[in-house]
Amino acid sequence: MSLKFLAILAASAAAAPLVERTLLPPFSLPNGQALRASGVATKRVGFQYAPGIGGGVYSPGGTLGLALIANDEAITTLDLTAEAGVSGPDLTKATLDVAKYNNLQSLSDYVKLYSDEWVLSSSPTGQMPGMLTNYTQDLLFSMERLSLNPFAVRRLIPGSDSVPFNVDSTIVQDVTGSSLSSLLSAGRLFYVDHSDQAALAPTAQYGASCDALFYLSESSNQFLPLAIRTNVPNANKLIYTPKDSANDWLLAKIMFNVDDFFHGQFHHLAATHYVAEVAFQAAERTLSDNHPILAVFKRLMYGAFGIRPLAVVVLLRPGGDIDQFFAHTGSAAGDYSANLYSTGGAGDVMNNYLLTNLEKRGLINSSAGPALPHFPYYEDALAIYNSVHTFMTSFVNSYYSSDSAIVNDSELQAWMTEANGAAGAVNFPTSSTMNTRGALADLLTHMAHIVSTAHHTVNTNNLITGGGVLPFNPSAIYKPVPTAKGVTDVASYLIGIDQVLNMIENQAFFSRPLVANSNRTVSNMFNDPVMLGRMNSATRAANTQFMSEMNAQSAAVSSRQFDANGLCQGMPFIWRTLDPNVIPFTLTI
Ligand SMILES: *[C@@H]1O[C@H](CO)[C@@H](O)[C@H](O)[C@H]1NC(C)=O
Ligand SMILES: *[C@@H]1O[C@H](CO)[C@@H](O)[C@H](O)[C@H]1NC(C)=O
Ligand SMILES: *[C@@H]1O[C@H](CO)[C@@H](O)[C@H](O)[C@H]1NC(C)=O
Ligand SMILES: *[C@@H]1O[C@H](CO)[C@@H](O)[C@H](O)[C@H]1NC(C)=O
Ligand SMILES: [Fe+2]
Repeated sequence: MSLKFLAILAASAAAAPLVERTLLPPFSLPNGQALRASGVATKRVGFQYAPGIGGGVYSPGGTLGLALIANDEAITTLDLTAEAGVSGPDLTKATLDVAKYNNLQSLSDYVKLYSDEWVLSSSPTGQMPGMLTNYTQDLLFSMERLSLNPFAVRRLIPGSDSVPFNVDSTIVQDVTGSSLSSLLSAGRLFYVDHSDQAALAPTAQYGASCDALFYLSESSNQFLPLAIRTNVPNANKLIYTPKDSANDWLLAKIMFNVDDFFHGQFHHLAATHYVAEVAFQAAERTLSDNHPILAVFKRLMYGAFGIRPLAVVVLLRPGGDIDQFFAHTGSAAGDYSANLYSTGGAGDVMNNYLLTNLEKRGLINSSAGPALPHFPYYEDALAIYNSVHTFMTSFVNSYYSSDSAIVNDSELQAWMTEANGAAGAVNFPTSSTMNTRGALADLLTHMAHIVSTAHHTVNTNNLITGGGVLPFNPSAIYKPVPTAKGVTDVASYLIGIDQVLNMIENQAFFSRPLVANSNRTVSNMFNDPVMLGRMNSATRAANTQFMSEMNAQSAAVSSRQFDANGLCQGMPFIWRTLDPNVIPFTLTI
């Protein structure tokens, strides 16, 4: 792995020095000048669409497109080289300490993998407090659906949805105090469906392609698990509930987490990388380099095109990290992402605006059932989203004096046409709906959301701090899925001592501890002195306000503690992932 990085690094060492960007003119809207239009036409010739690197949506081609990829690969490589300086010493220490893991014979041995280990890679937060102590609690499992991967769960809506699978009515009564049909009609039943993974090519590891029911308890007002069903081709489907033996039920939750991990990773490839890449390529081909909207979009896409070439080499290739550590092959994962993009809703732009998406899944403002008592992802994502939206509104209003100026901007309108046409965007605003300043602020806010908040919720620092933390959150199991209940040794299903440290190092490779408190964080999303120097004073003032709001949000997130009930945001673990002074403002691998 590192040899490849160093080779890329050497190739990019001679990259061109920065041009004298400060001498460039202030950003402006198109003014009808032929010179500007011909500049865009020339850029368009050099910036082409090429087949997607590693499959999926188009990647940039042409001389300018390839230069962009090379520039971004150099950024990605520098990041990973720096990261290797952190994860390398962590791996060395973890390897020297191998005796203390006791050959991973019990679940508590898996906890020791993190005891005074991987400290540099998981800084500044470390593993989420509670994740290694409270993982057998049902509330921890269910609340992971509303924090670590919030993109799979939905409320079942009475009248339009039916109960997806039946569960023994005595057990349902016992667990919930109600029946499945009453829970559904009360809007208290929720569902996650990973059964589509059963069709994907397997690796040497195993996954159970589970679907699962959750409910909002009337007595405790908590969001809790009700049943997990395995869906293995040509095998019994087993339905597990909290009334099973502790070992069976724990293994069921772990098997569900395997599928949810896969979903989180390969949904994010489509819903964040693909969507942002497509929108940006269309923007490059239609907006002048002097356009303020393109300038902000370029800032958001810092380094973004360096990721897919690297993902092919490291993750998706035969024998790569996906094949080694997941239940489905890298090639199947690529197809799964591509399908989610084109037909599975992950590629949709407007439908996935933060509030729209959560509302469509019945998680906020639901017409049926009570509100969720706690929804950590919504709480933390919304704070960032609202501040970005405030920035984007000031920024857009400072350049467009009215809605008619939006309609009149020929480059902006060409962007909409290009995105819906050759670029292959899905559910993107059209030139007839991009007709207000609000519509533009919404679109830009969404792009900022997917490259930062949405991405880092499931990826980046999340893996080594929570979403991949053993023993409860593995990416595969290592024995066939049980065909009958009565499991006695859950630990025997988990990754063995021979591979486990490589697996954790792989997660360390996704984390970005060195970005924390640097000029690469969400708080610095717009804080590029060169860019702001070419903007107007209203935009500079909006950036100052944004940074101060993000600093306040960081203080709130980083100081979170357990309450008197041992909960934080209603969860038995502390979720500090979306700290704007810790996570990058850009996509990472
Ligand atoms: C949800 O409802 C609140 C008021 O309860 C409202 O302010 C908000 O705009 C609604 N959200 C959406 C996405 O409609
Ligand atoms: C419309 O665009 C033209 C240039 O294409 C510009 O000269 C004019 O000022 C714009 N009008 C408005 C209302 O923005
Ligand atoms: C961060 O600051 C360094 C040093 O001033 C600068 O070279 C770099 O471009 C900045 N990075 C970003 C993403 O703004
Ligand atoms: C979760 O674990 C922490 C210790 O890591 C403990 O302080 C807290 O009380 C636990 N919460 C519950 C609900 O058990
Ligand atoms: Fe990513």
